[in-house]
Amino acid sequence: MNKYIKKLFSPLLINKLEIPNRVVMAPMTRSKSPNSIPGEDVALYYKRRAENGVGLIITEGTTVGTPNSSDDTNIPSFHGEKPLAGWKNVVENVHEVGGLIFPQIWHQGTLRRADTTWNSDFPSWGPSGLALVDKKVSEPMTLDEIEISIDAFVKAIYSARELGFDGAEIHGAHGYLLDQFFWEGTNIRSDDWGGISIEERTKFSTEIVRRSREEVGDDFPIIFRFSQWKQQDFSHKMAKTPEELGKFLMNLSNSGVDCFHCSQRRFWNNEFDGSELNLAGWTKKLTKKPSITVGSIGLTEDFIETFKGKESKPTDILGLLERLYEDEYDFVAIGRALISNPDWVSLVKNEDYDKIKIFTPKDLESLI
Ligand SMILES: Cc1cc2nc3c(=O)[nH]c(=O)nc-3n(C[C@H](O)[C@H](O)[C@H](O)COP(=O)(O)O)c2cc1C
Repeated sequence: MNKYIKKLFSPLLINKLEIPNRVVMAPMTRSKSPNSIPGEDVALYYKRRAENGVGLIITEGTTVGTPNSSDDTNIPSFHGEKPLAGWKNVVENVHEVGGLIFPQIWHQGTLRRADTTWNSDFPSWGPSGLALVDKKVSEPMTLDEIEISIDAFVKAIYSARELGFDGAEIHGAHGYLLDQFFWEGTNIRSDDWGGISIEERTKFSTEIVRRSREEVGDDFPIIFRFSQWKQQDFSHKMAKTPEELGKFLMNLSNSGVDCFHCSQRRFWNNEFDGSELNLAGWTKKLTKKPSITVGSIGLTEDFIETFKGKESKPTDILGLLERLYEDEYDFVAIGRALISNPDWVSLVKNEDYDKIKIFTPKDLESLI
């Protein structure tokens, strides 16, 4: 085993939880949970990845208990008796084969589709009712609605622990509710929940983390996923300098985050001019906490191309491994390559790169 592969298969702690290797399954919405209940097929889908050596599975986004957190009845909920029983079965299946699993806790905010199949009569929530800089879809959230939403996240994270999950990931990325608070384009509030600076706009998320931490205790691992890019604006950078990024991250870090999941569309892009570090590299350097990199790892095309119907071919991962070896980041999250190859981790471990299959959007049609 060469030194790079050896590093990929070395353990590391998140909080006090030992993750046996550095490969994380990226959260990917599959919309295969009718009535918002994850069934046996969903449990077996995650179990296959655990059996094949994924160090840590982050589930697809699963939505909190407000009436407008989701826009699709096939997206699994993370509240209510039946969805939670479905998730318990998922956890048991993954644990049976020695895997580790965190749910990704999600609220879509004003990115919820207008043709939602989930509580279509209920308005969407966002800090200023904006889905885009100039696209108003609802009234700004009231103070009560803010409290209800925070509480829904805290309850979900508490449920994750009760169900036996090994930790939880909070979805603060990609332009959804938490990110709508971060982003100056969608948060124009003048009260405590808004603000001119990026660090002021972290309050909604830091309250979620701080209050969750109070409920679940010091030892329950919490990952926070964030991104500079928004679905509403792929090239946006909310932190324009390392200093701004540092202020943003330190608020979150101090509120009780154990690890940051730094979403880029292409992991090899440097984050700021003048340094080769990517977003996870900067995050690790600034917070001194473990970070996860993600984005087109082992694939030719980025995931936005997937939604335009494009397939993506396997590529060399030496560059990724060299940077992991140098400790720029600690974990690597694999998305689409793990959809097409449930055995991606064992293929890489055995250096059987020729056996890695192309990702095609068709692979999303069923739970392979
Ligand atoms: C089908 C699909 C669904 C996704 N759903 C989510 C999601 O629920 N939550 C999330 O944070 N990211 C989601 N993503 C983004 C992935 O987690 C990941 O960041 C992205 O696919 C880049 O990784 P990759 O290039 O290895 O696929 C999704 C991506 C895909 C392809």
